[in-house]
Amino acid sequence: MFITLEGPEGSGKTSHIPHLVEFLREKGYTVFPTREPGGTSISEQIRDVLHDMKNAEMHPRTETLLYQAARAQIVEQVVKPRLADGEIVISDRYYDSTIAYQGYGHQQNLDDIRALVKYATGGLTPDLTILLDLDVEVGLGRKKSNNEWNRLDAYTVEFHRRVRAGYLEMVKADPKRWAVVNSEQAWESVQAELRDVILARLTKK
Ligand code: TMP
Repeated sequence: MFITLEGPEGSGKTSHIPHLVEFLREKGYTVFPTREPGGTSISEQIRDVLHDMKNAEMHPRTETLLYQAARAQIVEQVVKPRLADGEIVISDRYYDSTIAYQGYGHQQNLDDIRALVKYATGGLTPDLTILLDLDVEVGLGRKKSNNEWNRLDAYTVEFHRRVRAGYLEMVKADPKRWAVVNSEQAWESVQAELRDVILARLTKK
């Protein structure tokens, strides 16, 4: 089972995933967490280029292609082999981030972006994608106060609003794959909802 977590900046995905992994392992599942961009030596090197504040001149097409390069590597090196072994892979972001940020955020042609992500992933689609949704300004405020600012966070608030709206459109278009959790709730409530959503999917006949 391939599960992905998505969301605008500051949605808290990264803090929730280790606790979800521990919870599922206690239930007897074999779980492997990954993150994008990153998760392999090559992909982590690409991540550094993408997020470096000194690369402010990066063109949106360069950015789009670098995310796909990092993704192709982790899909082939990590995700597909683990899924083939019957493991649960939980990824902190996957191709929906490209559709939201590089597609809706940068207002690039969505059909072109979808074709690119299909090429990068070889067509591998998640079984379940959870959107951790929250107000864009609340999320950016969280990141700033945690000192986690990267090159993309510095894009305009309008960019980040388009990202969130893009996610909500994707949810509407494919409600079977997506679930939405409100991440403005207390951390414990968000974690509890995430566990419920995942367990419901894992035990679904
Ligand atoms: P994060 O680790 O804080 O979630 O940072 C990842 C950043 O990269 C975040 O700003 C979203 C961005 N991103 C894209 O723009 N496109 C993508 O395809 C991926 C995976 C991430």
